[in-house]
Amino acid sequence: MKILVATEKPFAPVAVQGIREVIEGAGHELVLVEKGTREDMIKAIADCAGLIVRSDKVDKEVFDAAKELKVVVRAGAGYDNIDLAEATAHGVCVMNTPGQNSNAVAELVMGMLITLIRNRYNGTSGTELLGKTLGIHAYGAVGRCVARIAKGFGMKISALDPWVKDEVMEADGIHPVHSVEELYSENQYVSLHIPATDETRGSVGKRLIEMLPKNGVLINAARKEVIDEAGLAEAMEARPDFRYVADVKPANADELEAKYPERVLFTPKKMGAQTAEANINAGLAAANQVVAHLKDGWNRFQVNK
Ligand code: 3PG
Repeated sequence: MKILVATEKPFAPVAVQGIREVIEGAGHELVLVEKGTREDMIKAIADCAGLIVRSDKVDKEVFDAAKELKVVVRAGAGYDNIDLAEATAHGVCVMNTPGQNSNAVAELVMGMLITLIRNRYNGTSGTELLGKTLGIHAYGAVGRCVARIAKGFGMKISALDPWVKDEVMEADGIHPVHSVEELYSENQYVSLHIPATDETRGSVGKRLIEMLPKNGVLINAARKEVIDEAGLAEAMEARPDFRYVADVKPANADELEAKYPERVLFTPKKMGAQTAEANINAGLAAANQVVAHLKDGWNRFQVNK
C-alpha cells in the first residue's frame, strides 16, 4: 500500500530515512511530498492508504480526494489541523504521537525566554531566571518538560491543569493553582501549553495579561489561536513593562514588531518541534503507527473515536 508523507515544513533527512525504512520494511511504498502545496497533497493522496502530516491542513477536500485512505497520523501533539468529523465521516482513523516532540518545544521556550530577557545579547544588562516565578498554563507533556528544565534554572514554578491532580504536580515540586486568575497574577512569566479548542480559542487576552506582575512576560509556543490578538495589542499599548514571546506568530506580528521591537520576540517560522531528535521521535512513531494500523487496525492514539 502507499503511504504519503506530506509536510510543508520537512522533517530532518535522517528522520525521513527512518520513516522510509519503517514503511518499506513493512512492504509499503513511501510517497514523499515535502515543502509541497495543498494541491500537491490532494493530488498525491488519491491512491494512498496512510497519511503522515505535521501542522498541514487535512480537511474535507483532502478526505474527499483520498479514496483509499484508512489512517492519518499527525506526527506531533496538536491535531487542530485535522477535521476529525470529516475523518470519521470518511471512515478514517486519526492518531497523534503524544509526547514525541515535547522536549524540543520546551527547550525552545527556555531559549527564547533567555534571548528576550538578555536583550537579544545587544550588550546591555538583562535579567536572570534564578528565583523568578513561572506559571505553566497546562501541565501536559510540554508543560512538564518546561517545568523540568525551569527547575534547573532555579525558578519557582506553579501550574494550572484541571486534568492533573495536585499530588502529581507536588511530587514534581510544582505548586498547583486552580484558576487562571491565580496563575496570571502570581507569576512574572507564564508559558502557554493549552491546545486550540472551542473553549481555549481567544481565551488569553488583555484581562489576563493585565494581571501579570510587574515586568510580566507571556510565552506562547502552543497555538496562535489561543490568544485574543486585539487584546494582546491593547495590553502591549497599556503596559509598557509587558513583553510577549511566541513561536506561533500572531496575525498582527509585523505591527507589534514595528511598534515594540524590544518587547516582542517571534520565530520567523514555527520552530518548536524542529529538531532532528523530535523529527526522528515523532516521524518514526507516526510511521510505526500507520503501519500497525494498516496491519491490524491498531489505534491506541486515535483521537476521533
Ligand atoms: C505539535 O503540535 O506537535 C507542535 O506544535 C509541532 O508542530 P509542527 O510539527 O508543525 O512543528
